[in-house]
Amino acid sequence: MAGMESPGVLDEDDALDLLAFLVTSARTQVDEAREYGPLRLIMAAHRVADAMGPRSSPETQALIARDLPDDAVHRPADGRRGRRLRRPARRAVCGRRAAPDRALRPGRAVVTDAAYRSDPVLASIRRRRVTRAMTSEPLDRHLLETVLDAARWAPTAGNRHLQRYVVSDHPGTLRALRMVSPGMVQRPAAVIAICVDRPLAAAYGFPARATGPYVDVGTATATILLAAQAVGVGAGPVTSFSHAAVSVVLRLPDGWTPELLVCLGRPAPAQPQPVRRRNRLSWRDLTTWVPGPS
Ligand SMILES: Cc1cc2nc3c(=O)[nH]c(=O)nc-3n(C[C@H](O)[C@H](O)[C@H](O)COP(=O)(O)O)c2cc1C
Repeated sequence: MAGMESPGVLDEDDALDLLAFLVTSARTQVDEAREYGPLRLIMAAHRVADAMGPRSSPETQALIARDLPDDAVHRPADGRRGRRLRRPARRAVCGRRAAPDRALRPGRAVVTDAAYRSDPVLASIRRRRVTRAMTSEPLDRHLLETVLDAARWAPTAGNRHLQRYVVSDHPGTLRALRMVSPGMVQRPAAVIAICVDRPLAAAYGFPARATGPYVDVGTATATILLAAQAVGVGAGPVTSFSHAAVSVVLRLPDGWTPELLVCLGRPAPAQPQPVRRRNRLSWRDLTTWVPGPS
């Protein structure tokens, strides 16, 4: 306002964080589902609000607390939650809509609940959730080593082990990673970058676009998420990041491509809502029997 002193509410580091977030969001959006566009803008708004919070006036803080939406939805004036900007249609299985779970419910408890109660591995699989809010507590190196050792036991095609793990618990490196990773909602205490050693894959005869090495990244990720949970560490996978920037930040050797970042840290007591809620799918929704169910 004319004539009024307006103190800066973002410092240079905050502004740089935001610029990196916006630019890498634009780049990663090219390869992502369209619904991530509005989500990234809301995330950018939250990052601005978080950074300016302590330096803005009480009136501005109150305005932000009241009016900043937490996701890309239209909110009616009465505060009720409105329609999402874009809700993807529930996907049909094998080209047709999956049979409603309701019709098959009688067998469900028999198949699942007893087994989940009696087997700790199944119970752990069911309990695991992505951690998107982490405390600032550092993680002991031995915990990270346990998780990395478990990852080594993940199955890999031909037992080739084409993936490499690049780990950091250095605050400056973690901050730089977060700047170029729009999908990194949490502030992790450590990150494991799962990379593929492309020259090694080529030496085994994999064509450049082969999908096999990506599958190994998936088995490693699942193993790491469960291992982290087993030692009381929260974990969250992230694939929305600038591959070029992450390679630079982590000083990756030539030919190592970063495919997935696993954020690690102690879970905060309150977790944000999942990015998107949809009707819970049962295994039946995802499964087709051939020639047909018995
Ligand atoms: C390949 C892959 C990539 C993912 N990328 C991100 C990401 O960039 N940011 C994020 O917050 N979550 C990411 N996730 C986590 C999923 O959103 C999460 O697993 C899903 O919402 C289900 O939540 P749950 O694992 O807690 O059940 C990713 C998960 C997978 C398997």
